[in-house]
Amino acid sequence: MKRIFSGIKPTGHLTLGNYLGALRRWVEVDQHRADALFSVVDLHALTVEHDPARVRRLSRQAAALMLAAGLDPERCTVFVQSHVDAHTRLSYLLECTATDGELRRMIQYKEKGTRARAAGQSVRLSLLTYPVLMAADILAHGTDEVPVGEDQTQHVELTRDLALRFNQRYGHVFTVPRATHPPVAARVMDLQDPTSKMGKSHEPGNGIVYLLDDPDTTRKKVMRAVTDSGSEVRYDREESPGVTNLLEILAACSGGDPAELAGAYRSYGDLKRDTADAVVELLRPVRERHAELASDGGGYVDEVLRAGAERASALARPRVDAAYAAVGLLPAG
Ligand code: TYM
Repeated sequence: MKRIFSGIKPTGHLTLGNYLGALRRWVEVDQHRADALFSVVDLHALTVEHDPARVRRLSRQAAALMLAAGLDPERCTVFVQSHVDAHTRLSYLLECTATDGELRRMIQYKEKGTRARAAGQSVRLSLLTYPVLMAADILAHGTDEVPVGEDQTQHVELTRDLALRFNQRYGHVFTVPRATHPPVAARVMDLQDPTSKMGKSHEPGNGIVYLLDDPDTTRKKVMRAVTDSGSEVRYDREESPGVTNLLEILAACSGGDPAELAGAYRSYGDLKRDTADAVVELLRPVRERHAELASDGGGYVDEVLRAGAERASALARPRVDAAYAAVGLLPAG
């Protein structure tokens, strides 16, 4: 059976981008067609300045939202990355496989590093090595497919390179995975700045729809989305990024085709209204189920995570042991 792995890092509240680019497909498609593992990848949240209490809170919330969105622990494995040692154990071997040059070329490292330096912060070494830990997340589980938004493509390409290089040097240990993306909305853009990605850690957040925003707030954010000069509703990422973003969001919510939808609208106002309605309705059940889970005090979520970590550890251990043996390390005992 095909193996699928993906993750979300708890650096902020989950967004519509996370939902349309990743989580929704995990729920609707991936958990039904493969042996799928989904992780709150908490170690990745420590690569930038962080508040321990906030990371703890956001990790719980991300797990609860994954279940509220419809991940079913009877069908897939949901766990927290730091509960499964195999990820960091393997990461070191992959650091010995990757090169300094290929990590410095990673777009996210360049962008986030530049942002941190501009804010007068130092750049953590883990921000540079982060894609190697991500590769370990994927390779530890013998993953065939990695369902992600478009922004993760370069990281999955690196993972493929590392798997191939490792296998070539030391013998076949790792499956070489590939990224999969949703057909639309693989890159949801910020509603206030449609040339940059809707990212959970971007402040102040007026252009970001959070999954837990109330319907009024969601509606306001969509209605205030920056559109383009002119008035024609066009599906064209270069020339009409704001309108194109709304068309993609609407298409993803309603199951339509963004280029065809463009032809159905005469004004930006109508497009915004329909998009706002569609987003509010799409997120309503997720918010409601999340409220139910939260009212149980988190007991159910904790139990799912405990069982998930046990299964994920058992799955990953033999492969990581094989990698340790393959590079020449003596087996313990
Ligand atoms: P993260 O936490 O930034 O995002 C989680 C998932 O949401 C997708 N996504 C988006 N998709 C469309 N439009 C957007 N605006 C948008 N923003 C986020 C991301 O592509 C991702 O699929 N490095 C990863 C986490 C990670 C991981 C892994 C993923 C760590 N290890 C192993 C897959 C496999 C990240 O930062 O995702």
